[in-house]
Amino acid sequence: MTLRSTLSALFADAFAAEGVPASYGEVVVSQRPELADFQCNGALAAAKAVDRNPRDLAQSVVDRVDDPSLIADRSIAGPGFINLSVTGQALSSAVQGMADDDRLGVPLAQPPATVVVDYGGPNMSKSLHVGHLRAAVIGESLKRLFRFLGHRTIGDIHLGDWGMPIGQLIVELQDRQPDLPYFDADYDEAADGPYPEESPVTLDDLSEMYPAITARAAADAAVAERARQATFDLQNGRPGYLALWQHFHDVSVSEQRKDFGDLDVEFDVWYGESTVNDRLEPLVSSLLGSGVARESDGAIIVDVAQPDDKKELPPLLLTRSDGSYLYSTTDLATVDMRVDDMSADLMLYVVDVRQGLHFEQVFRAARKAGVAPDDVVLEHVGFGTVNDKHGKPFKTREGGVLRLGDLIDLVTDAAAQRLSEAHIAEQYPQAEQDQIARQVGLAALKFGDLSNHRTSNYVFDLDRFSSFEGKTGPYLQYSAVRIKSILRRAADLGLTGGPVLAPSVPQERALMLRLIRLPDVLARAADLRAPNVIAEFAYDIATDFSRFYESCHILSEEDAQRQASWLTVVDTTLRSLVLLLDLLGIQVPERM
Ligand code: ARG
Repeated sequence: MTLRSTLSALFADAFAAEGVPASYGEVVVSQRPELADFQCNGALAAAKAVDRNPRDLAQSVVDRVDDPSLIADRSIAGPGFINLSVTGQALSSAVQGMADDDRLGVPLAQPPATVVVDYGGPNMSKSLHVGHLRAAVIGESLKRLFRFLGHRTIGDIHLGDWGMPIGQLIVELQDRQPDLPYFDADYDEAADGPYPEESPVTLDDLSEMYPAITARAAADAAVAERARQATFDLQNGRPGYLALWQHFHDVSVSEQRKDFGDLDVEFDVWYGESTVNDRLEPLVSSLLGSGVARESDGAIIVDVAQPDDKKELPPLLLTRSDGSYLYSTTDLATVDMRVDDMSADLMLYVVDVRQGLHFEQVFRAARKAGVAPDDVVLEHVGFGTVNDKHGKPFKTREGGVLRLGDLIDLVTDAAAQRLSEAHIAEQYPQAEQDQIARQVGLAALKFGDLSNHRTSNYVFDLDRFSSFEGKTGPYLQYSAVRIKSILRRAADLGLTGGPVLAPSVPQERALMLRLIRLPDVLARAADLRAPNVIAEFAYDIATDFSRFYESCHILSEEDAQRQASWLTVVDTTLRSLVLLLDLLGIQVPERM
């Protein structure tokens, strides 16, 4: 239980004793830290509900909440706000509680939910580029957060691997290399031997072929028709196409695995649209049978519009008139699979905000079809774009799409340069310096992204992101490394942490008050699906710590008990920072 919840419980009882619903007793962190530590605003609303004077009610409540070990000062401000300051003893025991707990006082979710985080989502046959960055880093952060909070969490990359683009690539390849066995309808694996083991194309080939075929299909209806047919044949199990699909899949995934790995982004499952192929036909037939879906001009659709819609919501398309399945069909079947096979309670789709309409359609269809029972939560966690300084989507200097691997190189180089300018880490072996540059570069990239609210667009500003000053990943990493070095020096002097005492100076008090908010902050970040809440809090801890460290000279302190208490506060600060950075996907080097 946090100090804030202990106070809330006291106030809840006091309100109840006044005959007012206990829920008005909620205590929150003060918005005016110079006046108070916490506040309770319930008296105003409660007074209205029971028709009493708000200041009188606040006074009666305050009179009841008399716990001198916890509360140092209580006062009523304005029309009935209750301001609270806590005792040094309450603070020290709250920080001690964190220090003694390997979860830093953060409770495990009770009961845990099964949470599927759908993120990354690259299409097969495409190299990862800057457009995949946000899905990867936001999704990874949310996955880590929900997992830390004790939920059973499954990160699923959901590859785009079963739609029209694959049919288009098959056609393009056929036109370029018509003699490959994959296109021979009479090819018989039993008689002619298995299809070649080696892929006829590399990922670079595929990346080059894709724009070529989309242009051709747009210009020529016959080409488009062949691509549709190839998609249909693939989805219906034509062996040569399945063999080609496997090649496309393997060349794509091997590079994508490496790129995501370089970002320290790890998926639990590499499922994709194709994973649910066996569910597509039965799902569509059953929806037709139950009347949830209907035929319309040869296609099969689900009407998802509702009478109170402000904007018209088009129906969800389940099959084209040729019987082939679409992005929406595989997404609906994937909801079904996640409910059936994974027992998912919550699905978070970390996908560009521009796909909002698609998800609204899929989610509504899933409800209507009973694919997602009412207690399963489906949520599109949208994000904005990464822009350049002119507000245009971020591109290479030549105007092309920036590959993710190149972006990582870019931030790593910038980090190496910053480190050398600041003379940080230059005394260490080259391999370690390289490793630090990589970690700092990723911190710059990820924090630059995650410190913005996910739905806003942001400007990719390499100079600002990689600076060791200001609200940046490198600053936070450096703060944590500095704390590690303080603790190392203390250990070298034979000093260890001891019981936490009441704070000695306002800077220490401020740091302690900050630290004990950790459980609430993580709960809020999870509720809002908002890693920027974590980023903000990590920054606040780092700045509070640096003020504390300026005013308290830990290593030269003469009062041994005070010194030991400070060391526990320092260690708890470090553990909190390392945890928060880890939840953002950021590593802290041992030394810098
Ligand atoms: N492959 C999709 C795209 O590139 C993103 C997939 C997102 N996840 C999902 N379940 N639809 O736009």
